[in-house]
Amino acid sequence: MIFIFTVKVIERMRTSREGHNTKQLYLAMYSSVFGGITTDTAAMVIPMDDHMVHRGHGIFDTAAIMDGYLYELDQHLDRFLGSATMAKIQIPFDRESIRRILIHTVSVSKCREGSLRYWLSAGPGDFQLSSSGCHQATLYAIVIKDQSPPDHRGIRVVTSSIPIKPPQFAVMKSVNYLPNALSKMEAEENDAYAAIWLDGDGFVAEGPNMNVAFVTKEKDFLMPCFDKILSGCTAKRVVVLAENLVKEGKLRGIRVENVSVEDAKRADEMMLIGSGVLVRSVVQWDEEVIGNGKHFSAAIETIFIYALLPLVPFALVSYACSKSDILTFEHEMVFS
Ligand SMILES: Cc1ncc(COP(=O)(O)O)c(C=O)c1O
Repeated sequence: MIFIFTVKVIERMRTSREGHNTKQLYLAMYSSVFGGITTDTAAMVIPMDDHMVHRGHGIFDTAAIMDGYLYELDQHLDRFLGSATMAKIQIPFDRESIRRILIHTVSVSKCREGSLRYWLSAGPGDFQLSSSGCHQATLYAIVIKDQSPPDHRGIRVVTSSIPIKPPQFAVMKSVNYLPNALSKMEAEENDAYAAIWLDGDGFVAEGPNMNVAFVTKEKDFLMPCFDKILSGCTAKRVVVLAENLVKEGKLRGIRVENVSVEDAKRADEMMLIGSGVLVRSVVQWDEEVIGNGKHFSAAIETIFIYALLPLVPFALVSYACSKSDILTFEHEMVFS
């Protein structure tokens, strides 16, 4: 084992990243520990004694960056602050300051298509269990550009054998995603895209980082209620779009209730919904083929996929956040 000086550590941090074969680029990071934004990946680190690292005492959220807008930022921010309260993390800044920091970080990154991830942690201080010795809660944010090509093909899901989190933890977006990660890995091991959780009573719950919904043979939009799962910002948006479909007579109604596996597997359409997937058509669940086993019907596709994407002008106008969220690329507090 050799001792290395700080300058060398930083140099090695930078080169170790260069060796990674990844489709994700990290363009900018904010940390309240150093009180600013960096574009140097070697500096995109968090302290080892941060309780989020060694005790999982942290919460997070995301927002997609689409055509220079942060998609549904305020809804994500509301959930973020709600999760922080549930996790007993003292919010270090007021809501408006957090919002401004997040927008500013994206602005510095110059990213117009990508994603923003942000965390509130109990903070650094010691390696105890309680956060009482932490100096101050910390805010971190990172802008990621994902270079994977978009894929809208219908996918296969399986039922997760990894137990779902109890409701108290499933409704908050804490960094405890080990069950979610294992569930996703279980899916991959079975040539599926995601593994679907059932709740304690055997009803359909959610996927590891997405909600699920169905269109029944009777043309009802059917979705599990949010009391034991994460209340998805994208799923809520989809419900609003589904209400329009009801008005147009393309759907009979909307039902947000307990969904049995039997009803779910008998549906005409099944979809995964979330910030990462937007809306993705499921064509097979375990051994059961969903609907006709093909990708969404045209009507559903138009509404649920394309209406969520900002490429359609009205989606940008209707669903993007306010004018002040337009990224300005002004620089201050930047280190690179
Ligand atoms: C467990 C879980 N359920 C559902 C979702 C979907 O939520 P959203 O649409 O807000 O991304 C996510 C994604 O964050 C998640 O992690």
